[in-house]
Amino acid sequence: MSTISHIYTERDVGDFFDQTLQTYLSFWDGDGVLHTGYFADDADDDYLAAAERTSEVLAAEAKIDGSSRVLDVGCGCGNFMIHLAERFGCRGEGLDLSRERIKFAQEKLAGEKRLDIEFRHGSATQMPYEPGSFSHVVSQDALCLVPDKPRSHTEIHRVLRPGGVFAFSDFLQPKKEIGERARKHVYDRVKWNGGYSLVGYQAALEEAGFEIILARNLESHIRQTYRVLGKTARERAEATPDAAAREWMLAFSTSCEEIQVAIDDGEFGWGLFVTRKRGSAAP
Ligand SMILES: C[S@@+](CC[C@H](N)C(=O)[O-])C[C@H]1O[C@@H](n2cnc3c(N)ncnc32)[C@H](O)[C@@H]1O
Repeated sequence: MSTISHIYTERDVGDFFDQTLQTYLSFWDGDGVLHTGYFADDADDDYLAAAERTSEVLAAEAKIDGSSRVLDVGCGCGNFMIHLAERFGCRGEGLDLSRERIKFAQEKLAGEKRLDIEFRHGSATQMPYEPGSFSHVVSQDALCLVPDKPRSHTEIHRVLRPGGVFAFSDFLQPKKEIGERARKHVYDRVKWNGGYSLVGYQAALEEAGFEIILARNLESHIRQTYRVLGKTARERAEATPDAAAREWMLAFSTSCEEIQVAIDDGEFGWGLFVTRKRGSAAP
């Protein structure tokens, strides 16, 4: 698979995340969290707690503390950066391609004056930061959406200090060939051209100058995320009087079924990576 694909452009992706903000706020999470959950066990069906746990796991693996200066790339509505600043007292920035999501994050921040963080609109492929600005770059389920992935890796490498940590979760494309149904329900649904396998991702990161510290396959957690969300969508659809909202939820619950089939067929996956920019200085 070519990782430089131009079926969906950055503009398509940004427009999609602008246009769907209100839908996701009303269904997925009112705070604007939009990432895969890390579930306690097979019986766990609390998506919001699982999504919070993903942030905790990633922060712990990245070893973020009060001295960190963090960049969250594809920060969406800003929840992870706010979580990190509240929990550890670190400074940081959030960057996202969606103006609507950045606006939402900035409004949320307006009530949090004690936090030393900022949110900006921009792309992972052209970041408005000086070289070596950050001790940590983090990201949750966003970098797969970048059409020119090597360029975003080069940018992340540029803005990290030598020895700095790049830690993130992301969607995976375990196998090259993708069938029609997975294309429709997994990829086209979110304007995603395609991504790396767990092994392919590591090779791309090494090529960009990162040393791999951890690469974990989290397929079972993404399957559970869509199982839980699909069930929620069906239940909510039955209770909602709004015909358009009901239709969206039923279509989404159908997609959730297809997404689980795609995961079983190796057409979709999820992974967590911790890497370090080669160089001597500790973050
Ligand atoms: C699935 S959402 C995840 C949002 C957030 N990380 C979270 O966990 O809630 C993906 C996000 O990536 C952003 N994104 C996609 N391509 C991007 C790019 N080239 N540069 C910056 N952000 C991008 C989208 O606008 C969207 O907000």
